[in-house]
Amino acid sequence: MRRLITLWTLGLVLCLTIGFALPSFASVDPDQLGKAVIEIERLDQMRSGLASTLEGMTEEPTIGTFKAVCAPVGKQAQQIAQENGWQLRQVSDKYRNPLHKPQNLTEETALAEFREHPDLQGFWQQDEQGVRYFRRINVEASCLACHGVKEDRPSFVKSKYPEDLAYDFRVGDLRGMYSLIIPELQKALTEK
Ligand code: HEC
Repeated sequence: MRRLITLWTLGLVLCLTIGFALPSFASVDPDQLGKAVIEIERLDQMRSGLASTLEGMTEEPTIGTFKAVCAPVGKQAQQIAQENGWQLRQVSDKYRNPLHKPQNLTEETALAEFREHPDLQGFWQQDEQGVRYFRRINVEASCLACHGVKEDRPSFVKSKYPEDLAYDFRVGDLRGMYSLIIPELQKALTEK
């Protein structure tokens, strides 16, 4: 009888140990991690590409050309998230669209991390929501047409974004970050 109890206890301890250890290992599909990095790099290149088309423009830009940089990036981010079952957003404490304001301590801390370490390009983190990936966004020369000196912002920006804080940046400044959540496999499956 005593032996049985010992065995049972041992079994219980083993189950508990494995049970607690598992979530930190087998929680997401490793292919998703690589895909996430690629998708975000592409998204960021899309913005740089669109912004660079405005550089050196001689004629007065139309509202159409001015609008066609960061709004499409936001739409594309939503599409990527939808296709992959991820959550993806842009975050900035000097935001133009108030939807991009940091929403919680996790996002605030990640931004502070990027600000404190200018060489930090991106990092992973895990919490109860899943696996998170943060990627920095820096200001390039081509961004200044719309994120430079306050008075020089295009008029559509001044009128459409009354709460705008995303100006007076300089090249190399931290503009914000991409924040991605890959839900844990278990949750992703049960939510389907
Ligand atoms: C043609 C004008 C224009 C240019 C050029 C431009 N942006 Fe923006 N940017 C905007 C507008 C407008 C928004 C708000 C879009 C929205 O409503 O989601 C914005 C939003 C953003 C956001 C989302 C956070 C926020 O503040 O709402 C980031 C990040 C960003 N821009 C980075 C950049 C970077 C980096 C560049 C240069 C590579 C750049 N932008 C060039 C107009 C521009």
